[in-house]
Amino acid sequence: MKVLVTGACGYKGSVLVPKLLRRGYSVVAFDIQWFGNFLEPHPQLEVVQGDVRDTDGIDLTGIDAIIHLSSIANDPCGDLDPKLTWEISCLATMQLADRAKRQGIKRFIYASSGSVYGVKEEEHVTEDLPLLPISEYNKTKMCAERILLSYSDDMTVQIVRPATVCGYSPRMRLDVSVNMLTMQALRNGRITVFGGQQTRPNIHIDDITDLYLFLLDAPQHTGIFNAGFENLAIMEIAEMVTRHVPAEVVVSPSNDPRSYRINSDRLLATGFRPRKSVEVAIQEMIDLYRRGQLTDSDQWYNLKWMQSGAVK
Ligand SMILES: NC(=O)c1ccc[n+]([C@@H]2O[C@H](COP(=O)([O-])OP(=O)(O)OC[C@H]3O[C@@H](n4cnc5c(N)ncnc54)[C@H](O)[C@@H]3O)[C@@H](O)[C@H]2O)c1
Repeated sequence: MKVLVTGACGYKGSVLVPKLLRRGYSVVAFDIQWFGNFLEPHPQLEVVQGDVRDTDGIDLTGIDAIIHLSSIANDPCGDLDPKLTWEISCLATMQLADRAKRQGIKRFIYASSGSVYGVKEEEHVTEDLPLLPISEYNKTKMCAERILLSYSDDMTVQIVRPATVCGYSPRMRLDVSVNMLTMQALRNGRITVFGGQQTRPNIHIDDITDLYLFLLDAPQHTGIFNAGFENLAIMEIAEMVTRHVPAEVVVSPSNDPRSYRINSDRLLATGFRPRKSVEVAIQEMIDLYRRGQLTDSDQWYNLKWMQSGAVK
């Protein structure tokens, strides 16, 4: 089976692609490489540097399945240039799905986001609740989901709404909450928490990447799946970090009202089980930092990197 992974050089893709290769899949890793490329060469891996907006330039010959990860991948980055955000994160998704249909590709897995729910008071945020996306990022995800669902008669569409991902990847992200707080404690002995009471769901990077593998093996499970297993207040995450790295916790006013708890019972009913916790992600990062394998770098912060002019 040959799999096209868009956004393959990103945080998730850099963990997912080696797993696909280990499973015996052939992989085309398609990415504009804004944050570099950390994929190791492999005989079954073709790395293509390209822009997903140039859909006609993507060679779909022999592709059996698409895992679509490329997007402008958080709220502040999405707000930098809304037109670009809509073109990359939504319009390109539509064009890719349309080309996939014409090419007879039968499998499409999409990385949406749990943030499509916006602010929710419900104790159990399930897939059938109305969406209240706040940012351009959230809105493009919601629209892309709906576009993809309209292709459900043509191909198997599997949409994942992941929680915030945590843990180590060769292409690191330190702008996601658990990773950011862990690095602050390690570097500065001080953690700054904005607000702190907002609740967010989390998922370990090994679990979200295992989930894409699981869905590839399980075409009978279609539609939308929440994927998040620990709903934690930001302050709880900070306190968890300080149990492993002594650090002072400083609270500042929040600039982000999003607060939600997601329920992943629909996913659990498929038989999928997460293997790792937030605490394990923190311990793994501390260990890699102390061994010199995890470093702090501007490249690991999407907004900082995009604003630095490094991304053209
Ligand atoms: N990391 C999380 O916590 C999280 C949570 C929920 C959903 N997601 C979604 O999962 C997907 C992957 O996220 P990530 O954390 O790996 O983000 P990331 O920013 O590390 O990776 C995104 C990749 O997409 C690529 N890309 C951007 N524009 C492109 C274009 N025009 N053409 C080709 N490639 C392009 C970038 O170069 C980057 O390598 C994203 O769609 C994101 O919205 C991530």
